[in-house]
Amino acid sequence: MDKFIIEGNTKLCGEVEISGAKNAAVAILPATLLIDGITTLENVPNISDVKIICNILEALGAKVSWTDEHTVVIDSRDLKCVNAPLEMTSKFRASYYLLGALLGRCHHAEVGIPGGCNLGARPIDQHTKGFEVLGATTSVSQGKISASAKKLIGAPIYFDVVSVGATINLILASVLAKGTTTLDNVAKEPHIVDVANFLNSVGAEIRGAGTDTIKINGVQSLSGNHTYSIVPDQIEAGTFMLAAVASKGNILIKNCIPEHLDSLSAKIIEMGGKIEDLGDSLRVSCNSKINPTNIKTLPYPGFPTDLQPQIGVSLAIANGTSIINESIWESRFQYTDELNKMGAQITAQGKTAVFKGVKKLTAAHLYATDLRAGAALLIACIIADGQSELYNIHYIDRGYEHIEDKFRKLGAKIKRVSE
Ligand code: EPZ
Repeated sequence: MDKFIIEGNTKLCGEVEISGAKNAAVAILPATLLIDGITTLENVPNISDVKIICNILEALGAKVSWTDEHTVVIDSRDLKCVNAPLEMTSKFRASYYLLGALLGRCHHAEVGIPGGCNLGARPIDQHTKGFEVLGATTSVSQGKISASAKKLIGAPIYFDVVSVGATINLILASVLAKGTTTLDNVAKEPHIVDVANFLNSVGAEIRGAGTDTIKINGVQSLSGNHTYSIVPDQIEAGTFMLAAVASKGNILIKNCIPEHLDSLSAKIIEMGGKIEDLGDSLRVSCNSKINPTNIKTLPYPGFPTDLQPQIGVSLAIANGTSIINESIWESRFQYTDELNKMGAQITAQGKTAVFKGVKKLTAAHLYATDLRAGAALLIACIIADGQSELYNIHYIDRGYEHIEDKFRKLGAKIKRVSE
């Protein structure tokens, strides 16, 4: 197990290059299983979740090869319609996309109950409900979830809750179904649009991604020999924007899509930060005290839950009291106990946390409790007085590529140590 040792008190300045989006990559890689051909994906983030998916694709008979650090070629022509290895699929959350993709291509799928970050209850009832509307039967037993169908027939599906995973999974299951599927009350995150764009680029007929209703006209097959570049990671960009604010620094965030970050940019301006939109990059700086503000996490285009812990670090040192209301995940305030070890004054109860701003955070030994909490705690260590140690950094490696190198280039003093 690795840990980070961080020398604090750093103002982060310089440039950072944003990688491809984790949450798009972990959906588009399984989506390549729907193609009876070869696909080249560019701008793929080199993170541990992506490596696990690639191993699973290989176990299913696909040939996966990296031609450079961010380009992967997947040949799914010899896909074996077998169950995905349980020990691999139960390791991480996004393995549920194998259900939609394999159901679409093979009409049968079985995966281990998806694991991943501990954010509280993570039901997948909307996924299974959707598969059943298309004509599949689903069952859960012995730690596995399976779905089978003789035939998938397009139909209208109305989601009871807005779910990123269910929206993408039902797109995957219906692109090769017979007839038209209409998905209502869908999620609108940028990575959903990216999955739809990818599938359309190989011959799918998906309309409306990014709106509340998505219409999919089933096609007979998807064509290979195509190259697609994954969208930049909105959450990684937001993490560095918030690192600029918390450290009172000045960072040029390159290779991002500023409009994906509008809800965060608005908050940063309220907090006294400055944002310069340069088209495909953003400059974020903060020279003054941080103003307190209130946040409610919501599905896109609302404030993303995946940036809630990172903004929490800035609010912990704001000039007054702020409130965060977390409406997506019930256990996303675990990082506040860790920040309190650094002298923060945060009271979290249920879906609400009250941040009474303090002047300074002080170094401590901290434990990442999930991916985004890990990124937030790393920022906290970079700005705190003294030398901190951060454990459980395998969570961070799941979703951030070379995070310590990127922060080091901005002036942070971070050492990775193997224990
Ligand atoms: C995706 O998770 C992301 N993961 C999460 O990012 C992100 O936090 C989340 O969307 C919300 O934006 C991936 O894309 C791989 P949901 P997902 O289905 O799809 C409830 C990160 O840090 N719900 O949109 O699992 C659920 O309980 C990760 O990168 C149901 O009730 O989230 C939650 O309250 C962590 N039934 C809400 O919907 C269902 O069948 C949103 O969940 C599905 C979800």
